[in-house]
Amino acid sequence: MTHQRIARIVSVGSSVPERIVTNKDLEKILDTSDEWIATRTGIRQRHVFAPGDTARAYELGGKAALAALSSAHRSPQDVDGIICATFSPDFFFPSTACKIQQYIGNSRACAFDVSAACAGFVYALSIADAMIVSGQCKRMLVVGAEVTSRTVDWTDRGTCILFGDGAGAVLLEEYAGGDRGILATYLNSNGALGDILYLPAWGEKRFMKMNGNEVYKHAVRLMVEATELCLAKAGLSIDMVDLLIPHQANIRIINAIAKHMNLPSEKVVTNLDRYGNTSSASIPLALEDAWKDGRIKDGTVAVFTSLGGGLAWGSAVVRF
Ligand SMILES: CC(C)(COP(=O)(O)OP(=O)(O)OC[C@H]1O[C@@H](n2cnc3c(N)ncnc32)[C@H](O)[C@@H]1OP(=O)(O)O)[C@@H](O)C(=O)NCCC(=O)NCCS
Repeated sequence: MTHQRIARIVSVGSSVPERIVTNKDLEKILDTSDEWIATRTGIRQRHVFAPGDTARAYELGGKAALAALSSAHRSPQDVDGIICATFSPDFFFPSTACKIQQYIGNSRACAFDVSAACAGFVYALSIADAMIVSGQCKRMLVVGAEVTSRTVDWTDRGTCILFGDGAGAVLLEEYAGGDRGILATYLNSNGALGDILYLPAWGEKRFMKMNGNEVYKHAVRLMVEATELCLAKAGLSIDMVDLLIPHQANIRIINAIAKHMNLPSEKVVTNLDRYGNTSSASIPLALEDAWKDGRIKDGTVAVFTSLGGGLAWGSAVVRF
């Protein structure tokens, strides 16, 4: 019996800056408190580069990519496609993906970036899935790499407390052995809601602007909807899901999604207490935690879901 080609996630890797900023540290520079941040967001600390640090997003992404390759016992030259999701690139061009290609020592892959803010990882994963299923690539790196700390106004307590720097990468391989791999993806956007969360590319004040209450409201509704539609595409029901691995924006958003979907907390992966919102890196960072502590086993069904500026949102259903 021949199986249809499917894209399988074979490994994950990550990289974060060493420097940690706790909520207590933020109390020293902002009118805020550990108690306010922890109860409103679930975040306790984040890894961020020091102001003036010249470290690059592509270096974080490159380290995450090398970690994913090493854990799958693959070499950089085995890869024929690299997609990087980022809203905090080092350059408009070359793309962060091209810089990652150079950093890891690959000379044969196609490489490009995807701009979908915090939904970037799911968007990039969906594109990579399509490229593998269509036969265009056989082995691809999907990377989320962000230096969010350079995009927030550190005097705006409504935004800067939420974000962290980091990168996560997964290695995808063509697989013809059955039903293990990306079972379905679903993407959607609404440009009419662009002004509730945005980062200008030009002008004097190039900082992220956000209407937190509006984002919150749409985030819960749209990630629930995307997850339900994606599960339907995969032909699965919510009780067949072992793990929800959501974008790590706010613990209250995550808990509200889980409640809507009737998912018990042991099926929901969270690590935003340690990393904050790392945008396109947050899902691979959470996936890595779950993989390391044994929650990803042969046959585990996981759902990724995320939403970000655009608005852009989506879900992916994966059987490991
Ligand atoms: C940002 C967010 C945590 C704010 O929480 P909230 O419960 O909605 O709080 P509000 O914005 O209503 O603000 C409540 C009060 O806290 C204040 N406040 C805001 N940030 C604060 C901070 N860091 N410390 C202390 N007080 C703060 C506000 O000024 C406001 O004060 P006021 O009542 O005197 O006007 C929440 O809206 C959120 O997480 N939204 C989603 C944002 C997100 O995830 N964005 C990224 C998506 S990818």
